[in-house]
Amino acid sequence: MTAHTMRRTRTAATFATAALILALPAVAQVDLGTEEQRAAGKVVYDKYCGQCHGDTGDGNGYATPRVKPKPRDFTTGTYKFRTTPNGMLPTDDDLRRIIEIGAPYTSMPGWPNLTSAEIQNVIYYIKSFSSDFENPDRYGEPIEIPRPLESTEESVARGRVVYEEQGCGSCHGEVGRGDGASAPTLVNDKGDPIRAADLTQRWTYRGGPTKEDIYRTFSTGLNGTPMPSYADSLEVEDRQHLVNYVYSLGDGDDPNYGTLITAVYSEEPIDLQDEETLDALFESAPMTRFPLVGQITEPGRNFFPPVTSIEAQAVYNRDEIAFRVRWHDLRADTSGRNNPSLEVPMWDEDNGIGGDAADDSGDDFFGDFGGEEAPAEDDFFGDSGDDFFGDGGDDFFGTADAGAGGAEFSDAVALQFPASLAPEETPELKPYFLYGDAQNPVDLWFVNLTYGVADTFRGRGSDSIEPTEADVVEAVSSYDQGAWTVTYKRRRSSRAGVSFAEEQYTPLAFSVWDGFNRERGNKRALSSWFYVYTEPSVEQAVAGPVLRAALIVLAIELLVVFLVRRRARQKAADEEASGATLTAGEAPAV
Ligand code: HEC
Ligand code: HEC
Repeated sequence: MTAHTMRRTRTAATFATAALILALPAVAQVDLGTEEQRAAGKVVYDKYCGQCHGDTGDGNGYATPRVKPKPRDFTTGTYKFRTTPNGMLPTDDDLRRIIEIGAPYTSMPGWPNLTSAEIQNVIYYIKSFSSDFENPDRYGEPIEIPRPLESTEESVARGRVVYEEQGCGSCHGEVGRGDGASAPTLVNDKGDPIRAADLTQRWTYRGGPTKEDIYRTFSTGLNGTPMPSYADSLEVEDRQHLVNYVYSLGDGDDPNYGTLITAVYSEEPIDLQDEETLDALFESAPMTRFPLVGQITEPGRNFFPPVTSIEAQAVYNRDEIAFRVRWHDLRADTSGRNNPSLEVPMWDEDNGIGGDAADDSGDDFFGDFGGEEAPAEDDFFGDSGDDFFGDGGDDFFGTADAGAGGAEFSDAVALQFPASLAPEETPELKPYFLYGDAQNPVDLWFVNLTYGVADTFRGRGSDSIEPTEADVVEAVSSYDQGAWTVTYKRRRSSRAGVSFAEEQYTPLAFSVWDGFNRERGNKRALSSWFYVYTEPSVEQAVAGPVLRAALIVLAIELLVVFLVRRRARQKAADEEASGATLTAGEAPAV
């Protein structure tokens, strides 16, 4: 490629020259670096970037088959995260930004250790993969991102109207959970399925979670994806209101992943059929969000589960304990099959062929698959033959565009507990987290959401999962605007499995299956072991006297605190009166 560098600096100029530059803003931005800089950039690239983005920049690196979404193909000149108008090339600053911080919840890491010069050089090198960067017509002026407006009620309300008028919900869903009516049909430029972002989980935004990022994202659009640009259809002020609305949909700045659910005690009966009292019960129970990852250690691998977290809470009364879990899913798949031991043929593991969603359309599937990886006849027509060409045959070949909820596999969820607690001396001993092991079995409370009832299984490893009926576990489920909620109940005591005593830490783990993503059996999103802690019930009779003593101590402490505070206030007031100020260091330590 030609190594011409056209850098034109804008000197203070006459009005006429300024107008000329405005008319040709693009020319001013073509900057392809020097040959040395590109050569230095190649060194950085070959070392850190080529394994994903490919030696020739075509996005086909060594790691690419296992990566989703696909690494950017730099030969196309199409970039998602830009301050420049729809269809234009990114600025160097845009590229620098993503290289420095990466794209969350994708395999694109941030590179904080690269020096500024190294980043600039690698940018020059990346640009050399596409001749578009030599074409002044492909450059556009970056948009101006105004300071965010204050999130007043009026602003958010106006933003909501804009959201509705512009049809954001058709992809992102009415309350932003990525469950819009057309969500299951979306594909990117390469024809790979792609999911509309879950706007409630800001931490997963690939282009960044700040108000400025959001403004940029929908102003310029994400090129190469169905996410449009709204620069032409929305005035600046309405865009600012829209930012506030999108921001208001968010469930906090970060996921605040926890490791423990605290089960709270209640006197109330737990009645799964009485929605209202059940909701009221759970209102008092703290909610914890747990991270989910793909199952990639055993057959049935799933590198990119779309469900990246689950929220859980628990309540208990004298006899029973109830768990409630909630996660987001772009659609309720409630007609297919599922169960924890459904076999996943190797060729249907998450093979990284698809785009953002792992939902392999027929084409993709047979396209890539035709070669050496082809399954032995047995895999196809042997014992699993029925699974495919039986009831699911039709769905299987048309899944990618089956927008109507007709997936072959249903959504499902499971809680996993050790079948018995580890001895007190070795509380850290837990069964193998993948369905347990021969010595340390686990119990699964599995709900196939086609039926919505809980089935119990005993797992002694992934190849040994048997139904059990030792304990009766009940469940109710509902799907509302992109969120599944499943509530379980069981007696606290069990002779066959784990009992939930007060003040006990019980290990628990989660699995979620997304039917749309063809997850079943070992192909799922799962967590490692976390804990549920059964908080002591207040009415513990034996604790009565102890509690009273504690209350008296507490009352005395409060009194002391009150007195100290009052003195401090008095002191501060005195000092203020005499011109001195109370510094933080002097503040009373209460
Ligand atoms: C482990 C794989 C991996 C490595 C290593 C990697 N990337 Fe990426 N990169 C990705 C993926 C995946 C995307 C696409 C993210 C998306 O589509 O949201 C991406 C996207 C990008 C983008 C495009 C942003 C846009 O606006 O479309 C740039 C630029 C980029 N990477 C630069 C680099 C550079 C420079 C390096 C090396 C310093 C690097 N990447 C290393 C996986 C990788
Ligand atoms: C035609 C479908 C569609 C419509 C309509 C749509 N989006 Fe999107 N949006 C997407 C897709 C798909 C993505 C994910 C792109 C990706 O992951 O690369 C996305 C991503 C986003 C993101 C997150 C980007 C990131 O950094 O990961 C935001 C914020 C967003 N959209 C806001 C909006 C708003 C606001 C509107 C309406 C003004 C809107 N979208 C309309 C499909 C759509």
